[in-house]
Amino acid sequence: MNIALILAAGKGIRFDQQSPKQLYKINGKTIIEYSLDVVEGLEAIDWTMVVIHPPRQKDFKEIIRRYNKRVEICKGGSTRQESVYNGLTRIKETISGTEGVKVLIHDSARPFSRDVFSRVLEKLKTEEAVVPVIQSKDTIYVIQDNHVVHIPCRDSLYHVQTPQGFSFTAIYDCHMRAREKNMNAFTDDGSLYSHLMGDQPAVVNGDQMNFKITDKKDMLLAESYLLKAENRS
Ligand code: CTP
Ligand code: MG
Repeated sequence: MNIALILAAGKGIRFDQQSPKQLYKINGKTIIEYSLDVVEGLEAIDWTMVVIHPPRQKDFKEIIRRYNKRVEICKGGSTRQESVYNGLTRIKETISGTEGVKVLIHDSARPFSRDVFSRVLEKLKTEEAVVPVIQSKDTIYVIQDNHVVHIPCRDSLYHVQTPQGFSFTAIYDCHMRAREKNMNAFTDDGSLYSHLMGDQPAVVNGDQMNFKITDKKDMLLAESYLLKAENRS
C-alpha cells in the first residue's frame, strides 16, 4: 500500500503574514489542490493524509470533499518535523498493519510534482528510502557570522525536493527516535532518516519545475509556468 502524506500545516511566514500560502490560488486553484490532483491521478497511491493548519480546518475540509479518492486530515505541529510525526502517527492509528506500507511525504507548497512522484514510486519498489534531487547550478558558500567558512565543490551539491518516499516502519521508527533524543530541527525526512538510520537514502532525479513556493516571487514563476503549459496544450 502506498500512502501520500501531504504537509499543509505551515503558516507561510515568508510568503504572507495573513493566510497560509497553500490556500492561495494560482489560476483559480489553491496551491494544495495541485498536489491533491497529482495523487488523485496516480493509480499507485491508495489514499492520502493531509496535515493541516488547524485554524483553517473548515477551508481544508471544503477542499478535500471534492476528491473521489480517499483523503483524510489531521492536525499539524509547530515545526515541519512535528507535522510529519503527527501525520505518520495518525496513519498508524488508521491502518490495520504497517507491513509493506510505503509513505510518500510531500510539501503541499510544491504544486508541480507529478513526474517526480512517479519516479519516487518506481524506485521505492526496491528501496527503503528515496529522495529526489537536482544538481545545484550555483556555487554555494557556507557562511557563519558573515564570514565564508567553507566552499564545497559545486559538482557534488544537490538540492533536495519532495515527495520523499519511505517504508512506513523505517521512517516512523526514525521519527520516534528523533523525538526521544530531542532532535527536532530536521527540515526534511531524508536527513532525519540518514541521521537516525545511519544509512543513506537512494536518490532519483527531481525536476526544476518541482520548486517550492516560498515567497511572492515564486508565485510569478508558478503563474508563468502554467501559462506556458496551457499554451502548449
Ligand atoms: N509545514 C507543515 N507544518 C509546519 C511547517 C511547515 O506542514 N509546522 C509544511 C508547509 O505547509 C509546506 C512544507 O511543510 O508545505 C514546507 O515548509 P515551508 O516551505 O517552510 O512552509 P511554511 O513553514 O508554511 O513557510 P514559512 O517557513 O515561510 O513560514
Ligand atoms: Mg517553514
